[in-house]
Amino acid sequence: MPKSSPSQSAEDYLERIHELIERKGYARTVDIATSLRVRQASVTAMVQKLGDAGYLNYTKYRGLVLTEKGLEVALKIQNRHATLSRFFSLFGLDPETQHQDIEGIEHHLSPETVQVLSDLTEFFEKNPETLKAFRQSRRRSRK
Ligand code: FE2
Repeated sequence: MPKSSPSQSAEDYLERIHELIERKGYARTVDIATSLRVRQASVTAMVQKLGDAGYLNYTKYRGLVLTEKGLEVALKIQNRHATLSRFFSLFGLDPETQHQDIEGIEHHLSPETVQVLSDLTEFFEKNPETLKAFRQSRRRSRK
C-alpha cells in the first residue's frame, strides 16, 4: 500500500466513524470502541493519528468530523464494502456471517480483485440462469 494511503486499521476507523455519523449524526469514542471491539484508549490514539494525517477534525460541538480527504477515503471503503456485499449476496449466505467475512477481508483486497468480483456480480445479475445453474450444481455436489 502506498505511504499516502491509510493503514488497514485506519481504514476500519474511517469506515466506522463515517457509518456512525451517517446513522446517528455523530461518532463518540465509546461507540467507535464498541463497534470495533477495541479499548477507548486505542480509539483516542488512532483519532489523534488520523487528525494529524488530515483525515478528520475534532470540533467541540459536533465532535468528530471527517475532512474532505477523510470522507473521500470513507466513501471508497463504503463502496468497496457494498460491492463485496452485492457479490456475496448472490449465493444466499447468512447475512451476519457475510458481514463479518467482508469486514475480515475487505482491507486486504487489491482494487483489481475487487473489480473482478464487481464484474462477476454484474455478469451473474445479467445472467440469472447461469447463477441458478451454479447454485443448483453446488447443492447437488454437496449432497
Ligand atoms: Fe466494511
